[in-house]
Amino acid sequence: MKSKSTKMRIDKFLSNQGIGSRKDVRRLIQKGFITVNGHQIRQIDMKIDAIDDDIHYDGQKVHYHSLVYLMFNKPKNCITATEDSRHRVVMDFIEHPLKDKLFPVGRLDIDTTGLLILTNDGQLAHNLLSPKKHVDKTYHATLDEAINDSIIDAFNEGVKLDDGYVTKPAKLVKIPSREDAYSVEVTIQEGKFHQIKRMFSAYGIHVLELKRVKMGALQLDQDLGEGEFRELTREEYLDLSKK
Ligand code: URA
Repeated sequence: MKSKSTKMRIDKFLSNQGIGSRKDVRRLIQKGFITVNGHQIRQIDMKIDAIDDDIHYDGQKVHYHSLVYLMFNKPKNCITATEDSRHRVVMDFIEHPLKDKLFPVGRLDIDTTGLLILTNDGQLAHNLLSPKKHVDKTYHATLDEAINDSIIDAFNEGVKLDDGYVTKPAKLVKIPSREDAYSVEVTIQEGKFHQIKRMFSAYGIHVLELKRVKMGALQLDQDLGEGEFRELTREEYLDLSKK
């Protein structure tokens, strides 16, 4: 039976399939580059069925991909889960025909913002999260105290957490564009529960703000506002799956 959720606006379909931003694809539609079932269309909000309709861009078929990779800029006060009875969850921000099949790759705390990948590709998720793969995750943190060189060295060697676990080496640097020593960039290779907060807490430092800006080679798009998402470009996907 045909799923109701595969019906959507043509501009949304095209941008979901990675043809370009919403603005780009509207221009392509208006210029007559798109055909639906053999007919040139110019109506940006035309309703199509992503599976049943035959859509071409500049003569090439736009295939509806079954594997989806979204970059999401997580806001605060939202849980990295698919459902929760008390709080908003990341999936509340996503509109996508395959939404029910997507899941977040790893977790960010409720008050952490920034880069989260949502996908239905279990293999990619496994590769990014597997401790054996050592995929770097980079965060910007605002701290309640300045860091000193001995803390930088300690992060470099691995920090002993409150449960006795010693983390893999982490890179800690002051953010060069900022004057104060309270803003830092930290790169970790694993994703233990509250890892960054607990690493600073080992030195009596409290993390006031935390934002993930990079995962492997994938950088958070600065134009993506909190709560917004977009499909990864082909290059971003290839970079990410290389790791
Ligand atoms: N480390 C934390 O403490 N929190 C996060 O959300 C991610 C890494």
